Amino acid sequence: MKLGFIGTGKITSSVVTGICRSKISFKKIILSPRNRNVAKRLQRQFKRVSIAKNNQEIINSCSWIFLAITPTVGQKIIKNLKFKVGQTIVSFISTMTLPQLKKAIKVKATIVRAIPLPPISLKKGPVPMFPPNKKVKNFFNKLGTTIEISNEKLSKNFWSTSGMMAPFYELLSTMSNWLVKRGVKKDKAQKYITSLFVALSQDAVVNSNKDLKHLVKESQTSKGLNEQGVRELRKAGFYRATEKTLNSILKRLNKV
Ligand SMILES: NC(=O)c1ccc[n+]([C@@H]2O[C@H](COP(=O)([O-])OP(=O)(O)OC[C@H]3O[C@@H](n4cnc5c(N)ncnc54)[C@H](OP(=O)(O)O)[C@@H]3O)[C@@H](O)[C@H]2O)c1
Repeated sequence: MKLGFIGTGKITSSVVTGICRSKISFKKIILSPRNRNVAKRLQRQFKRVSIAKNNQEIINSCSWIFLAITPTVGQKIIKNLKFKVGQTIVSFISTMTLPQLKKAIKVKATIVRAIPLPPISLKKGPVPMFPPNKKVKNFFNKLGTTIEISNEKLSKNFWSTSGMMAPFYELLSTMSNWLVKRGVKKDKAQKYITSLFVALSQDAVVNSNKDLKHLVKESQTSKGLNEQGVRELRKAGFYRATEKTLNSILKRLNKV
């Protein structure tokens, strides 16, 4: 199986790295020449990665095509490419809907939208996809945790929550800098904060069949530090602000 990527930016770099570190069986990965620096780096890093001359060459030689360009570029270039009947086309493009993709692709192909996130390079993280498709699901399950969505409108909600990655890292950075201001060496502070949050996240995954409120409760003791932490942040509107931000990200996505 040859896998082709149109658009070689941040998300292609993460997905290709994940694939090359995974058990996915493939013959070759062919990248579009843009961005040249990212494509060259991936080619140097992984034996089975090569760079095509142009986007059409990728479509002509691959059975699976990943669309990893921005929505503006997608609207402009997809309609001018000649796809093959029966190809599997996975679009990462945030705001192009399935009907829009079908119209631009024109031929009868399997078209799936997926939203992988950068930790896919570590073979971790959720991959919401629409519509459900067994082949594509099995593929992404080797790279992370696939979440099949049966209604396209719902996918926007998942996309909104992915806008919380930078705020999450900002929280880690704030806590780490707080330790540094109190005299802790930066490397120690960062090591402490990142291993604390990886442990908490792992615990949350293990317990994800229960209501997450259970963990909020379990991690507090009466009059303890965590009780104070969650009470004061609640009072300051930290969690209300989180929900408000999710709403406004969703509102923006609904406008597109
Ligand atoms: N980053 C994420 O976490 C993430 C996650 C899921 C989905 N997505 C979606 O995936 C898409 C790509 O996101 P990204 O973050 O990877 O963006 P990005 O880093 O800006 O990558 C886009 C790439 O498209 C290339 N490009 C521009 N015009 C092209 C053309 N005519 N033909 C082929 N390639 C062309 C750009 O090359 P130049 O640099 O040479 O212009 C760039 O390398 C977006 O629709 C985004 O919404 C992103």
